[in-house]
Amino acid sequence: MGKPVVVLGIFNADTAYRAARLPRLGETIMGAGFHLGPGGKGSNQAVAAARSGGDVHMITRLGRDDFALMARGVWAGAGVTPHVIEDADSHTGSAFIFLEEGTGQNAIIVCPGAAGRITVEDIHANRALIEGAGVFLTQLEQPLAAAEEGLALARAAGVTTILNPAPAATLSDRMLAMVDIITPNESEAESLTGLPVTSLTEAEAAADALIARGVGAAIITLGEKGVLYRKDGQSLHVPARAPGPVAETTGAGDAFNGGLATALSEGRPMADALRFGCAVAGISVTRTGAAAAMPTRAEVEAFLATQAGSGD
Ligand code: RIB
Repeated sequence: MGKPVVVLGIFNADTAYRAARLPRLGETIMGAGFHLGPGGKGSNQAVAAARSGGDVHMITRLGRDDFALMARGVWAGAGVTPHVIEDADSHTGSAFIFLEEGTGQNAIIVCPGAAGRITVEDIHANRALIEGAGVFLTQLEQPLAAAEEGLALARAAGVTTILNPAPAATLSDRMLAMVDIITPNESEAESLTGLPVTSLTEAEAAADALIARGVGAAIITLGEKGVLYRKDGQSLHVPARAPGPVAETTGAGDAFNGGLATALSEGRPMADALRFGCAVAGISVTRTGAAAAMPTRAEVEAFLATQAGSGD
């Protein structure tokens, strides 16, 4: 096991509805399926990192309700150590997830509840934990000030910082300068840079724009096209592979970020870490649910072994 991976983020109880299309305002339509399960970008990333072999710690806030029990259950099962404030005046995060029949695409509404109240003081209460990490990983579902403070503490202590800028938000150059690796998807990269990202060449240009604003390196996640890593004018493209048919892509980016964090916490070179993250994501999309889809270390290694010598 490598150095600790510390994740700042939120847990959501995902309520996923499968239907042919979204209803129009004022309209009721019949769905084709429903699933309730653990989600939230930060929690999904922590679960992916822990199941794939990391020593993972999760900083967040929960309510005091049944969804908080769901969070604690999924972390206990995955081996994630929680560093949680329970906020009885609020509720645990929840997400509405629309899954489009036929395409498998999703649309999501997140209500972070107690996690929307994570403060800079919460981050300082976990200062020693963050400073002792190998990797600090965060996203943008909790307040921006908390993410920024976590990045600042980690950066000052020489901890590798990863920012998954999801959902997309306006970020200051000061914040970006504290990020070693930024991991937007295509639409987040477009929103951060104002540049189109529809090809590898365009992804390189968007990555360079982010690097020019202060991040150390950029990894643009490109869905079925894999990931594009960019640093110092050099690129590495790792194609996406899945060991079976795609069942659901909710949480695929989280799977990649969690796997990447674990691999980097073990001191693996970036090319290996990218392949490891892609393998975690590739397996996760063959399963339904978000956190529930994250593979174990043994599954990741077995899948990577099938790719050995493929030349990518
Ligand atoms: O990235 C997928 C996640 O986004 C879902 O689990 C949902 O909870 C939202 O946070």
